[in-house]
Amino acid sequence: MKTNKKLFTRTITFSPLVRFFHWIRAFCIFFLIFSGFYLAYPFLIPEVSATPTNFLYASFRSFHVIAGFLLIAVSFFRVYLFFTSKSKGERVSAKDLFDTKVWIGQIKNYLFLGAHPHIKGVYNPIQFFAYLVFAILILIISLSGVILYYHVYHDGLGGILAYMFKWLEVAVGGLANVRIIHHIATWTIILFIPVHVYMVVWNAVKHPDGGADSIVGGYRYQEAHLKE
Ligand code: HEM
Repeated sequence: MKTNKKLFTRTITFSPLVRFFHWIRAFCIFFLIFSGFYLAYPFLIPEVSATPTNFLYASFRSFHVIAGFLLIAVSFFRVYLFFTSKSKGERVSAKDLFDTKVWIGQIKNYLFLGAHPHIKGVYNPIQFFAYLVFAILILIISLSGVILYYHVYHDGLGGILAYMFKWLEVAVGGLANVRIIHHIATWTIILFIPVHVYMVVWNAVKHPDGGADSIVGGYRYQEAHLKE
């Protein structure tokens, strides 16, 4: 019997924690870009008063640092989840990194010259490589942020972090260079975001079963071809 109904198989792509952390990190990154640019160029100044109580710059710095440490904490846990999550899709994707056929197939697909190659996990090798570079970028911005932090807050955690990372500050040529690195990493992240969103939308439009909604709902739906 013929029917108009279509059947779909449902596979889990991203676990609830992976999805939750994706959005926490997205929020932190947007907030850090905004507050970071304020710290670099304080475009608002509080009303001038005889008693200096309007610490707008210090408040921006506090919230920047809070979001910064939240980003660091979530990123640590995200790396842990990559290795331990029950949905193995991410880990399995690493295998395709070493398969030249899949690389070539994927490049062709992006150039509209061929079908999507069969991939083992949830990311194609170009995507996996891009996310790896992004993770390194987060590491760079976090380390440079931590160095900037201990130059503002000298005691407590600042003292411990200074003890841990002073060598890195010296290795890159001093505090001025750390600030430049923090800026370059900021701009690289700013470039990454529109490309990331464009690629996600492109994939969802070109391959509807690889929809953008899996980072919200967690599942990927593929049409099941049943024999009648
Ligand atoms: C996506 C991540 C981040 C972005 C886009 C970002 C961006 C920026 C920018 C543009 C500045 C201004 C630098 C200047 O011209 O002086 C800044 C300053 C700073 N950032 Fe970040 N940042 C990020 C992550 C972090 C992290 C993880 C930390 C550490 C916990 C951090 C701590 C600081 C500190 C302490 C300052 C200096 C504040 C001051 O000069 O008083 N940032 N950030």
